[in-house]
Amino acid sequence: MEVDRRLFLATLGAGALELMTPEDKAEALEHYMEGKLDEMVTARDGTEPMLYMPDGEAIALAELEQENPRPPRGTGTLFRPRASEFAPMSDKPTLVEFFEKRFAPANHVLQSATHAMETSQPERTIMACLMHDVVLNLIKVDHGWWGAQLIEPYVEERISWGIRYHAPLRFYPDDAVGYEYPEMYNRIFGNDYVPEPYIARAAAFAKDHRYYMEARLITLNDTYAFEEGKVVSIDPFVEIIGRHFKQPKEGLGLDNSPSSHMWRTIANPDRPL
Ligand SMILES: [Fe+2]
Ligand SMILES: [Fe+2]
Repeated sequence: MEVDRRLFLATLGAGALELMTPEDKAEALEHYMEGKLDEMVTARDGTEPMLYMPDGEAIALAELEQENPRPPRGTGTLFRPRASEFAPMSDKPTLVEFFEKRFAPANHVLQSATHAMETSQPERTIMACLMHDVVLNLIKVDHGWWGAQLIEPYVEERISWGIRYHAPLRFYPDDAVGYEYPEMYNRIFGNDYVPEPYIARAAAFAKDHRYYMEARLITLNDTYAFEEGKVVSIDPFVEIIGRHFKQPKEGLGLDNSPSSHMWRTIANPDRPL
């Protein structure tokens, strides 16, 4: 995916760049790219990407990026202004239902899981790729940690572990498996980019851990998941979800697990309290 440096920096707002930590900048870039990917899907009918306000007014995204300040960068996608109500969830929501009604179009994670599937990687890795960034719909800050916590009660430990540590590890190359430092970061932020110390510590911890490769494979598949115009679907993954995600019989969000409140917030992002 081509990134227009000038347009990307414009989305950060005047003066914001100097106030951002290097980690903030890298996060902002990744989410900008994911947002662009989803916009391209919504604009595939040839119309200009639009943002829909609660009162129904539609504003061209390009116009908005220039004139309006952005909401806090750490805010999840579900909290952006939108024209229509969210589709109501069923009485017993499933993970697939969350993909269809809350995460859609989810182009980036679907591309990542598709790449893992097409290259015959283990089902566990495919499942991890499918879930690795879905929490960005809820919150973007420290998304590896939030994303792991979201699914921890429902998957084997290695899947959530991999999701937690893909976030710090993506800044560190690993020649042995062919993971290069993303060239994109050099072009956008310069060659002197240094992750914050807590990121470095987490990456060092993960590097020596027996589950290291779980996280590393997520970062590898991630680099193949920003392709423009690629059509993907949740359908090929439904059976893998059935085998690797313990769907609670009460429905996700209604099962009183340590993260069910997070699923409820995703289901009902408009609730005031
Ligand atoms: Fe990520
Ligand atoms: Fe990602």
